[in-house]
Amino acid sequence: MSPNSKLTSTIAIVGAGDVGATIAYSLIMNPVAGEILLVDPKEEVRDAQVQDLSDATFHGNTSTRVRAGTHKEAGQCDIIVMTAGAKQKKGESRTDLVGRNKAILSSAIDDMKPFASDTILLLVANPVDVLTYFAQQFSDLPKNQVIGSGTFLDSARLRGILAAKAEVAASSIEAFVCGEHGESQFVAWSKASIGGVPLELALPSNIKLDKNAVAEETKNKANNIIENKGVTNYGIGGVAASICKSIMFDEKNILPVSHWQEDLGVCLSIPAVVGRKGVVRTVEMGFSGEEKEALQKSAKTLKEVLEA
Ligand code: LAC
Repeated sequence: MSPNSKLTSTIAIVGAGDVGATIAYSLIMNPVAGEILLVDPKEEVRDAQVQDLSDATFHGNTSTRVRAGTHKEAGQCDIIVMTAGAKQKKGESRTDLVGRNKAILSSAIDDMKPFASDTILLLVANPVDVLTYFAQQFSDLPKNQVIGSGTFLDSARLRGILAAKAEVAASSIEAFVCGEHGESQFVAWSKASIGGVPLELALPSNIKLDKNAVAEETKNKANNIIENKGVTNYGIGGVAASICKSIMFDEKNILPVSHWQEDLGVCLSIPAVVGRKGVVRTVEMGFSGEEKEALQKSAKTLKEVLEA
């Protein structure tokens, strides 16, 4: 999109911490909306982030503007990115955050109502699958308009690991992590490919892939980063901006985002078509027997959290 083309849409980012600010920065650098609203009750932090982010809009490569906004204004935006909440501390699991972050979500949704009828609510805060489910309950928006970043970031991490082993660009690898964005996630190995060629056939003959080790490395990457820098923000910042782009430009990319699964009674990630209406449809993956079992296990894990 050239800088002088007029973008008229608005994206609200609720939560002006590391993740929210990084998502805003990604959206400024890759213009998707005309205006970004930063919403946070900590007004000093919010305003300082707005000041700092604004400095990134003055050097001419972007048409996007950023300002402080209110929850009421957020409710009328095209997309609302929900990052507000406690973040994982060293040794904490994402699920440990559910009590605090469910309460923050409920309060934020009450403050944002009434929503514009076509707004898309994108959950990023953790535990993202559980919060996506509660956001559907609290917001009364159509379920397809309330989605979560899910295992999109895990899938990007997986592609990075496989790209290094196969010595090809990550963009040439198609591989999805599915299920919970957490401990019970699984890799849909039966559907993984490089350049459209099934993974086993496409890997260089001298590469022996330890799938369990790769899946564990993928799953544990966030904890390793948090151990050393206290937060993850750049990976999720890029992923959330990509989801916003697919929504805003109605690109209908196939993305592993967390969304409602009628048959499972939870929200979790299976690749889905993502456009201006949110999740257009879930892709029928044709999972293997092992993958179907892993999906059921992941759904059971999430249901136990919801019912706790
Ligand atoms: C991570 C956070 C976003 O996986 O859950 O980095």
